[in-house]
Amino acid sequence: MSPLTPDRRVRLRPAVAGDAVRLRVWDAQPHVISATTDRHDAERAFPDSDWDEELAAQSDVFRYFIAELDGRPIGAMLVIDPAREPSHYWGVIEPDLRAIDIWIGEPDALGQGHGSDMMAQMIEACFAEPEVVAVVIDPLASNARAHRFYQRLGFEVVGRRRFGEDDCLVHRLERERWTARGPHGATEVTP
Ligand SMILES: CC(C)(COP(=O)(O)OP(=O)(O)OC[C@H]1O[C@@H](n2cnc3c(N)ncnc32)[C@H](O)[C@@H]1OP(=O)(O)O)[C@@H](O)C(=O)NCCC(=O)NCCS
Repeated sequence: MSPLTPDRRVRLRPAVAGDAVRLRVWDAQPHVISATTDRHDAERAFPDSDWDEELAAQSDVFRYFIAELDGRPIGAMLVIDPAREPSHYWGVIEPDLRAIDIWIGEPDALGQGHGSDMMAQMIEACFAEPEVVAVVIDPLASNARAHRFYQRLGFEVVGRRRFGEDDCLVHRLERERWTARGPHGATEVTP
């Protein structure tokens, strides 16, 4: 059965304070660490994140989502408005964009189409806001599997960019390009 059939569809819901515990567990998963840093001695994927504080700091420009499959949490997403998000991680950047991070924390949920499903639902939710012109992402330059994953969804390479210690390959998906790919299904997510 395809993971994109309606009865197997991953459900995205806003993260709540009680999700900090699972975000901490996923933060220490080797496959998540290797996707987020080139440092081989890293013990956490997001070493600067206090998950209680991250979840408490959520707002309309900075929000985490939890992906559930048949009620079981399997992964997380972060959606920000990069021009308005308070840490200004993306530096000076044009308005009316969204930036997405995604990580499936449960190893047995990898590679079955759930990540594609999560991204499609979230992209759709981002473009449901009429002012949003494009979605940007910043995978590590070394994460070639993630590049393939994003490019299959329609993302195009913008270029190499350093974020702190991280050497990233910024990708961007324009609204027109996404729309031209046809219907992607309705979503209840509100980023
Ligand atoms: C990237 C990720 C969200 C993709 O979700 P998924 O459900 O595993 O992927 P799908 O089944 O929808 O699509 C398969 C494609 O995803 C990518 N992928 C699969 N496993 C992956 C992994 N462990 N790490 C990175 N990319 C992976 C590959 O492009 C794969 O295609 P391939 O088999 O031809 O190489 C997921 O693998 C993940 O969370 N990986 C670890 C964290 C990460 O890399 N996040 C992105 C950082 S920018």
